[in-house]
Amino acid sequence: MSVIILALETSCDDTSAAVVADGSEILSNVISSQVEVHKKFGGVVPEIASRKHLELMNYVIEEAMAVAGLSFAELDAVAVTYGPGLVGALLVGVASAKAAAYGLGLPLVGVNHVEGHIYANFLVEPDISFPMVCLVVSGGHTDLILLKNHGSYELLGSTRDDAAGEAFDKVARTMGLGYPGGPLIDRLAREGQAEAINLPRSYLEEGSFDFSFSGVKSAVINYLHRASQHGEEVNQADLAAGFQKAVVDVLVDKTIAAADKAGVSTILLAGGVAANTQLRAELIKRAGDGSRRVICPPPILCTDNAAMVACAAYYKYLRGAFAPLTLNAVPNLKLGEEKYEGNFKGRLM
Ligand code: KG4
Ligand code: ZN
Repeated sequence: MSVIILALETSCDDTSAAVVADGSEILSNVISSQVEVHKKFGGVVPEIASRKHLELMNYVIEEAMAVAGLSFAELDAVAVTYGPGLVGALLVGVASAKAAAYGLGLPLVGVNHVEGHIYANFLVEPDISFPMVCLVVSGGHTDLILLKNHGSYELLGSTRDDAAGEAFDKVARTMGLGYPGGPLIDRLAREGQAEAINLPRSYLEEGSFDFSFSGVKSAVINYLHRASQHGEEVNQADLAAGFQKAVVDVLVDKTIAAADKAGVSTILLAGGVAANTQLRAELIKRAGDGSRRVICPPPILCTDNAAMVACAAYYKYLRGAFAPLTLNAVPNLKLGEEKYEGNFKGRLM
């Protein structure tokens, strides 16, 4: 018998609901993006994001159920991202999921957003064998994680300043390209020469798997200021290509070094920046000497979506790792941590 999960994701500016069977059969994955609303502000405005989630949530759930062609009675559990993310945005998903679970008499599963990104890989390859190293690169995270088993994570390295996606977005804004910056730089970089403008790469201490992208971001900003002071024209495509290559080089070098040090041959890519064409191609090329395997979910499953949350929830469901109806949003939730009120363990009903 299948396990069918309705999952909700509202941690940032995408309102999403998905229905997934057995952790890998996506019956629906409805994503309502708020990009057009936030674009004019050059970034996500948290209060506006929460209000938009409130307006959209019920419609998105109804559409996810309609596309899946199921009735609520056919569901086995309701899952939701409860952190990390914007508190007001998370609260909309959490409150909606609790109401649905209570009203339908179903168990509730709380999912960590980063865990959701990692599990996008299990949506496409449910039988990947452990252990593996995953690079999670998004607007809020740049983490190298060793996965030992379902739900068992060891953080190998993290960004010490800007997340990779944040650096893409800030550089794009300074270049006057728009928001979100990642896809715009990705596209523009295809027309440029990465070698034309040399930008710094920060590797930090020898053997460190941490990242730092504020240096390369500041180098781009300084390059633009200097050009403007001297009245020189900037080749935007070369600058985009140079910046992207500087970020991708460090991400790929450290990911391969981390996998080799951990003695792991499977590398997973996750998070919005994992949609980047050059990052995907370079990682596959550099890792591809036959001894390592790289898995990259399709771009639509890399950026925020509820199908990845349903997939992570499926493995928690199998372990009986349910959440109480007192579940709250935890904006700074750490990977591997369960933050429930009281000492709740096991299923509710
Ligand atoms: O995972 P995500 O949808 O939301 C967060 O959890 O942050 O990631 C959004 C981030 C943004 O910073 C966006 O610019 C970046 O992912 N991004 C990209 C690409 N597509 C999205 N960055 C580089 N290249 C892309 N093609
Ligand atoms: Zn995300």
